[in-house]
Amino acid sequence: MVAASPLSHDAEAMGAAVEAGAGAVVVYSLFEEDLVAEQSAPRGAGLDPYLRQLETLRRRVAAPVVASLNGTTPGGWVDVVAAVVGAVGVPVTVKISPFYSSVPAFVRRLEEVGARGVTVFNRFYQPDISLETLQVDRRVVPSTAAELPLRLHALALLAPFARLSLGCTGGVQTGLDAAKAILCGAHVVQVASALLERGPGYVGVMREELAGWLDRKKMASVAAARGKLGFGFTADAHAWERLNYTRTLREWPATGEGRQAGGEA
Ligand SMILES: Cc1cc2nc3c(=O)[nH]c(=O)nc-3n(C[C@H](O)[C@H](O)[C@H](O)COP(=O)(O)O)c2cc1C
Repeated sequence: MVAASPLSHDAEAMGAAVEAGAGAVVVYSLFEEDLVAEQSAPRGAGLDPYLRQLETLRRRVAAPVVASLNGTTPGGWVDVVAAVVGAVGVPVTVKISPFYSSVPAFVRRLEEVGARGVTVFNRFYQPDISLETLQVDRRVVPSTAAELPLRLHALALLAPFARLSLGCTGGVQTGLDAAKAILCGAHVVQVASALLERGPGYVGVMREELAGWLDRKKMASVAAARGKLGFGFTADAHAWERLNYTRTLREWPATGEGRQAGGEA
């Protein structure tokens, strides 16, 4: 699935991604701030241009087109989701941040107010500082696969309990990264950075990688792989838990890359 990004301003690119095998496309977000102050919104954002772009995409793209709202009121996020679920007839999925004291507890509350899906995790574009110009540097840095494990952990913990569908976004660069997310319980995998860098046709390469891996592992479908490494399903029952954290830290110099970097203990 194509994640929300500026690529969705280009209906041809979205069409090409679907022709290369993407199952759905998410449109860039309509921000509450854009609605409140349409005249000062960037790139002609605002409700009317957004709705026109949705229509254009619906006409060009032979797959579901998912609109995206980014809102801040009223009050808490669960209230926002409840209000949206109550106002629309289409399924609502929520892309969440990793910064909750308990992601599973928050997801359960989203479930209770009627969300049909949750996507982990939004990626924050944290500005850097230029020490030369003494300015805030707002450049967007594309993701790398190093961002994926945070998502894998959350998916693995959610998979056995969540009744809503699970999406993964952040750090998926290849079909094999998608396979990891699926093994941890993802129903859908979203990709933005890799497509911005390599073009919409790269979806086809990712699909082939995923299909090749399924073949190698003799799995008949994505469904056969889904959740196999979720919490409680791994051979090592503690693989995803805190116990594993303490064990990993203790084992660090004696295994894998740590050994090369840290030398023999
Ligand atoms: C330039 C850019 C613009 C984005 N705009 C949006 C947006 O409008 N709404 C949204 O929910 N996510 C937006 N995202 C986040 C992506 O949808 C995605 O969740 C994030 O980039 C992580 O996926 P990736 O590692 O495949 O890039 C944007 C990402 C990029 C790189």
